[in-house]
Amino acid sequence: MSFHSIEQAPARLNRSELAVPGSQPQMFQKAAECAADVIFLDLEDAVAPDEKEQARKNIIKALNEIDWGRKTMSVRINGLDTHYMYRDVVDVVEQAGQRLDLIMIPKVGTAADVYAVDMLVTQIEDAKGWTKRIGFEHIIETALGMQNVSDIAAASKRNESLHFGVADYAASTRARTTVIGGVNENYAVLTDPDPAGERQVHWGDMWHYALSRMVVAARANGLRPIDGPFGDFSDPDGFRAAAYRAAVLGCEGKWAIHPSQIALANEVMSPSDAEIARAQKILNAMAEAEAAGKGAVSLDGRLIDYASIRQAQVLVEKARQIAG
Ligand code: GLV
Ligand code: MG
Repeated sequence: MSFHSIEQAPARLNRSELAVPGSQPQMFQKAAECAADVIFLDLEDAVAPDEKEQARKNIIKALNEIDWGRKTMSVRINGLDTHYMYRDVVDVVEQAGQRLDLIMIPKVGTAADVYAVDMLVTQIEDAKGWTKRIGFEHIIETALGMQNVSDIAAASKRNESLHFGVADYAASTRARTTVIGGVNENYAVLTDPDPAGERQVHWGDMWHYALSRMVVAARANGLRPIDGPFGDFSDPDGFRAAAYRAAVLGCEGKWAIHPSQIALANEVMSPSDAEIARAQKILNAMAEAEAAGKGAVSLDGRLIDYASIRQAQVLVEKARQIAG
């Protein structure tokens, strides 16, 4: 290990994160009762310009009046390039900051963007005399944000998670894509001809680099990497495949832009019973080896290295959070 120790963001379940437009208050109660770990009430792209003010009021009322249970509550503010953003922060934090866990900053481009919001939120919390600190989630969804992702990840003690916003990222990089978070048949490899002269087309994951890059920046700074939206909510298999790709790379959650995607995200992002049992077996073997004063840990005739033990600890801790 490096001498540099990585401080971990507060441990929160973030398997599914439901997007709820702030302009649709009739959806709030159902959202409060759903199985999502995190809900973000949106003031940004799901809300038309002439509805922004009313959406802000709806969100403040909802945070104060609805019983959201143990859900982690977030608000997606407007971007720092809009004149809505300062009032999103001031009004929502001043009037509903005590039930707000996180602020989601869209299209974050530089560490200075994070600094600016941090300054504003800090002043409000201090003026109110609150000791609870609201955390930040950042959407990495522009070429600038991706270029500066490491600086953004390190920019504030409030940072908790990085989210891959594939829709805006595609727009920003001018990637050729049609379905949000989907793949493109032209991003493929052609195999060499087989003995019969046949060639196969293997579709690739055009988001692999971007998501991996973000995962590294998140983990190197103790933050949760979260995969963003999958647009076609009539395609659960496509959603599941995208979520598994993200999970395999290290993401611990995925957005749901439709209630039907919550259960899918929870399913993919939860360790399976077999994984938990195996991890527990590894930890038991470690405890037995320690008790017997042995340096090496073995299980089922195989040596267990310390990397496997650390993975097992993470998994068992996640299972404990889910159960709890
Ligand atoms: C999310 O905001 C996205 O642009 O994908
Ligand atoms: Mg976006």
